[in-house]
Amino acid sequence: MGMLEGKRILLGVCGSIAAYKSAYIVREFVKRGAEVQVILTPSALRFVTPLTLGTLSKHPVLSDLVADEQRGVWNNHVDLGNGADLFLIAPASAHTLAKMAGGEADNLLLTTYLSATCPVFFAPAMDLDMHAHPANAENIARLEERGHLHIPSESGELASGLSGTGRMADPEHIADYVEAYFTEKAPLRGKSVVVTAGPTYEAIDPVRFIGNHSSGKMGYALAKAFAEAGARVTLVSGPVSLPAPGGIRRISVTSAQEMYRETLPLFRESDIGVAAAAVADYRPAEPASTKMKKKDANLSIEMEPTEDILKSMGAEKKSGQLLVGFALETDNAEANARGKLVAKNCDMIVLNSLADQGAGFGHDTNKITLMTGNKTVHSELKTKEEAASDIVAFLVTEFL
Ligand code: CTP
Repeated sequence: MGMLEGKRILLGVCGSIAAYKSAYIVREFVKRGAEVQVILTPSALRFVTPLTLGTLSKHPVLSDLVADEQRGVWNNHVDLGNGADLFLIAPASAHTLAKMAGGEADNLLLTTYLSATCPVFFAPAMDLDMHAHPANAENIARLEERGHLHIPSESGELASGLSGTGRMADPEHIADYVEAYFTEKAPLRGKSVVVTAGPTYEAIDPVRFIGNHSSGKMGYALAKAFAEAGARVTLVSGPVSLPAPGGIRRISVTSAQEMYRETLPLFRESDIGVAAAAVADYRPAEPASTKMKKKDANLSIEMEPTEDILKSMGAEKKSGQLLVGFALETDNAEANARGKLVAKNCDMIVLNSLADQGAGFGHDTNKITLMTGNKTVHSELKTKEEAASDIVAFLVTEFL
């Protein structure tokens, strides 16, 4: 998988002759597997049409703070800024750079910039004297000090007919620059990971099943965190209502047996296995082939054990492979989790204690304890995304 596969990139385009090159930037990112959302400043609309960029990016282009005046619908710059993996402003005009440096917010690009929690890149485009002017140089320096990444202008012929530095970097160079950023951040580049997630459903008859409340959120967040660290990820997912994360291969299964059959062969080919699924421990021994009818007596269903997927992975684990299990405990949490670490031949166990408020099933947050053969690290209540990044970072520092 290329480093841009599944990455959500916001592309802010300013009013500059170089705006025509934004079409090539969009095409380059889309070719490399990224999702691109374009935002045009009002003056960019005079240089490029939303139709061109909307068609190339396959997403409607946004420009106005208000989406529909009549119906009172706004373009939510907060969601835009928070939902992206990266905000690239290219071409960045001298005017927009000045407003970014000064914190002005009079258009959608600027309000999005102020709301953005993702890394910000900017590729200036202007005439050589504007580029060299101390006011502009100071603005660029201020943005760099804020940690934003400056993709320097290149030297060459400018729209004014003059020649010098100020021309926006070539679209292909811009895409390389962005890709290199994700690559450097990628400690698990070249590694493959299989993650199980979600619940399993065990059939009682054709319409009924035994399941559990797992939402799959933790496993999905982990799959995404592994992909962000550069790994090639396959997610073997029980029935959940979550969309497949971008850039990740998802195999959907229903029962523990299906999950086992899909996961084991994948684990044999993987560097890392992660069992985040809430797998049923038992299934009806003989599911009825037709819908069971109601009777006046009590009903018992005979249950048989399911395959323990994590334990099977542990039994097959070869040297160099890593295995991460989860444990959900209500009492004697640490001792039980440590028991599972040993019994299932794991390198690490992520312990969720149900005793903690806001942790575990159905919640967006989790309070985890990470355990290896010789370490126990407690963590605060965090979002599942943060917990997932912590788990990946811990794995990298401890084992790789
Ligand atoms: N697991 C699995 N296959 C199963 C049951 C569990 O792969 N049939 C995995 C889970 O994905 C998790 C770990 O095993 O990573 C711990 O699951 P848990 O249900 O807590 O442990 P059990 O061994 O089933 O023990 P118990 O239910 O008695 O606590």
